[in-house]
Amino acid sequence: MDLKNKVILTGVKPTGTLHIGNYFGAIKPAIELGHQVHAVGGTHVMFVADYHAVNFMKDAAMLAQMTREIAAAYLALGLNPEQSLFYRQSDVPELFEFTVLLNNFTPKGFMNKAHGYKAAVDKNIAKGEPQDAGINMGLYTYPILMAADILAYDTDMVPVGKDQVQHVEIAADIAGAINACYGKQVLKIPQYLTQQHTEVLPGTDGRKMSKSYGNVIPLFGTDAELKKAVMGIKTDCQDINVPKNPDEILLFEIVRGVLPTEQVNEIEEGLRQGGMGYGTIKKMLLAGLIEQLTPLRDRYDYYMTHYEEVEAFLDVGATKARSLVRPVLNRFKDTVLGRI
Ligand code: ADP
Ligand code: TRP
Repeated sequence: MDLKNKVILTGVKPTGTLHIGNYFGAIKPAIELGHQVHAVGGTHVMFVADYHAVNFMKDAAMLAQMTREIAAAYLALGLNPEQSLFYRQSDVPELFEFTVLLNNFTPKGFMNKAHGYKAAVDKNIAKGEPQDAGINMGLYTYPILMAADILAYDTDMVPVGKDQVQHVEIAADIAGAINACYGKQVLKIPQYLTQQHTEVLPGTDGRKMSKSYGNVIPLFGTDAELKKAVMGIKTDCQDINVPKNPDEILLFEIVRGVLPTEQVNEIEEGLRQGGMGYGTIKKMLLAGLIEQLTPLRDRYDYYMTHYEEVEAFLDVGATKARSLVRPVLNRFKDTVLGRI
């Protein structure tokens, strides 16, 4: 993939407590991509999408806390704010001017089809409620705000999980419609980028690890919390000496997503041949997790207790972000309002 001189942008919503699925599945690859983009002279943009969270989060203190936690987490996990543009969406008011303009080019039907809205409608229908009960315009028009996030930087590529592909396609369609309307390239058409090699990490009960299932291994948990989660990973009761197919074993799926290759190979061999017990594997997994996660947790604790340092990075990022967005917004605005 040619990243040279490209603008690569990702937004992260403030969320509840992070788990290792978030880290290995989304955060780590995003941060590594940032290093790669920087190395070849591209622009890597990473922001905390706090305005996006308002459609579901009305507890302001909680929202502020979640925003702080996610910003501190990204820095602790290796995002380099000198290499990646790092800011809070709410600190770049130009984005909201951009959003208002985009509204006028977005067919309402696009929003009816957006899967976040559709899922909310389906839930209402299943409960026998009116289809739009409890659905606010923030949720309904979410893809337009996300299109502004993307289009405002002349973004080339947006790395996203599968669930976000539709939103990037909507952004591309809106940009295409605008360019067609004015007969020139007003806005750059973005592409999405899905990471093929990152797999869904299962949780301790075998379903996708997710905070909503309560089956997580916490990313910044204490050693005791990690131990409790690892020991709680579901296992079967096959005899220790029976040779096993590692691909059918939940514990091994987690091991494969988390431990270094050498250890994964050792465990795979032990299972295939028989003789390696689940208890031993859990101990290896726990030790590996503690080794990998302790420095991350320490850095996270540092940033949470020195939050003014995080705030300072975000402030610098917002100033830079505004200076990048301003000319794109002016180009868009001048075109639409006939000022050029
Ligand atoms: P959750 O399911 O815990 O609510 P989110 O939906 O907030 O997690 O996910 C945030 C990011 O982390 C997304 O990009 C998602 O793809 C990634 N992610 C979440 N759970 C996993 C998992 N079990 N394996 C891999 N990636 C995951
Ligand atoms: N909607 C994304 C999510 O739920 C977060 C997000 C907001 C985003 N704006 C973005 C992602 C722009 C990529 C580009 O995860």
